[in-house]
Amino acid sequence: MLFGALRSAVSLPSSARTLTFSFSRASPISRATVIRAPCTSSRLLTTNSIKSSEHLGKGMYKSFPALRSHPTPSHCRFIHATPSNLTNSQLEAPPPVLPSPAVGRWLLLSSTLVLGIIVVGGVTRLTESGLSITEWQPITGVLPPLSVDDWMVEFEKYKATPEFKLMNHSISLEDFKSIFYMEWGHRVLGRLIGVVFVGPLIYFAARRKISKSMALKFTGLSLLIGAQGLLGWYMVKSGLEDSLMDTPGAVPRVSQYRLAAHLGMAFLLYVGMFGSGMAIIKDYKFANGASRQDTSAKALQKILSTPALLHFKRQALAVTALVFLTALSGAFVAGLDAGLLYNEFPLMGGRLAPPADELFSESYAKNPDKSDKWWRNIFENPTTVQFDHRVLAMTTYAATAALYWRTFSPAMRQALPPLTRMATMAAFAMANVQVALGISTLLYLVPVPLAASHQAGSVMLLSAMVHLLISMRKPSAAARVWRELLAKNKAPKA
Ligand code: HEM
Repeated sequence: MLFGALRSAVSLPSSARTLTFSFSRASPISRATVIRAPCTSSRLLTTNSIKSSEHLGKGMYKSFPALRSHPTPSHCRFIHATPSNLTNSQLEAPPPVLPSPAVGRWLLLSSTLVLGIIVVGGVTRLTESGLSITEWQPITGVLPPLSVDDWMVEFEKYKATPEFKLMNHSISLEDFKSIFYMEWGHRVLGRLIGVVFVGPLIYFAARRKISKSMALKFTGLSLLIGAQGLLGWYMVKSGLEDSLMDTPGAVPRVSQYRLAAHLGMAFLLYVGMFGSGMAIIKDYKFANGASRQDTSAKALQKILSTPALLHFKRQALAVTALVFLTALSGAFVAGLDAGLLYNEFPLMGGRLAPPADELFSESYAKNPDKSDKWWRNIFENPTTVQFDHRVLAMTTYAATAALYWRTFSPAMRQALPPLTRMATMAAFAMANVQVALGISTLLYLVPVPLAASHQAGSVMLLSAMVHLLISMRKPSAAARVWRELLAKNKAPKA
């Protein structure tokens, strides 16, 4: 038996930081140290021969009767079995927390759900279902109407809205049910994201599977999920206001400003979850030597700090910001139904740009001196909004192409890790898909499947850019410490 080699247990007072166990020479472990500190990452530092005992704690107690009988095993968060080649300070200072891949997978699952709700939200808007539920009931709203009477009550409430009065006065109860279910599904998915994110967060934080700073960061994301729900309702409210009835020619739809804020916040949530999940999984692999086995932590640090790579990284960050901005401008196109004008590409009305007096029409100004003409046209004139989206989209496309082009230069071939070059190619490929989807959406007058794919495409393009940035990210301090510790444990004894 591997652990049968345990020779003696040195009992220390329970206040001691560590307990050290000695092993016979035959054992692959020369010493096991139980660290009592609130170390979060319960792991066994293994020698090569016991690699599989990664999920240390419990298995270790089972295998070591001496550990099991110790009076305070539950305080011992961390078992450190090692050849005795580590220094005392390394043994005594608990290593920093390195989140396990399970934490990364939870974040990726949450980000996938956010991608899902972005698409469902788009379809809700495109099918004009978003204004069918006229109240915000975070708890009781989980259940849809269950009886005929309940349906009639909801239908009556809808009949009081400007959308019903101006556009949908002949809608049947059956048709109302289908738009209601669309919006209800969107709201239920929002609640599900809250539960899927917050439940495991509490577990991981309580079990100290994540560091305090990470727990804080993810708590911030949880608050953002709540704020997103509130913002969603604030947006819907803008489409239910009775004042719409008094505005000649007004179309009952939500404010494009609020739609852009709601979509922008969803993108931020997505990036926060997806980026953190990827980083955690990458750090774990790095710590375990799964990638770049021949590269020490210090050497990798050096590769990822060369001026050429840092310059490329700054450019990639700028392109990511550009993708985000283009996506926000898309929300203005969607919010104003500006995709139903100028259904041609690359021209607009036979010219590259519409006439200046159409782009900056005085009719959009509200101040008597017309001083708000510029910004109002940029955000409220459908022609200008569509033109801006085209310009931003083509700039984004050219920027991803330029980034990809740069990877072919001899200096960049030398400076960039292969994964970064592949990620740049993937981002450029996704930009092609996204532009093709955008143009098709415009040419075919915004059919639901194309417009929804275009919306999903913007998230995929953002993901490709985040992946590119992560490929150039330096491993976290915790991953570097763990990699050194593990490497020392794997090193053949002198
Ligand atoms: C990098 C490229 C692009 C990105 C990131 C992007 C992003 C977006 C986003 C996020 C939306 C909002 C969707 C919604 O809320 O439903 C949108 C809408 C739209 N985009 Fe783009 N877009 C890009 C390129 C283009 C191009 C090249 C065109 C065509 C000229 C285009 C045409 C449209 C149209 C017509 C809409 C409105 C669709 C609707 O009403 O749902 N996009 N875009």
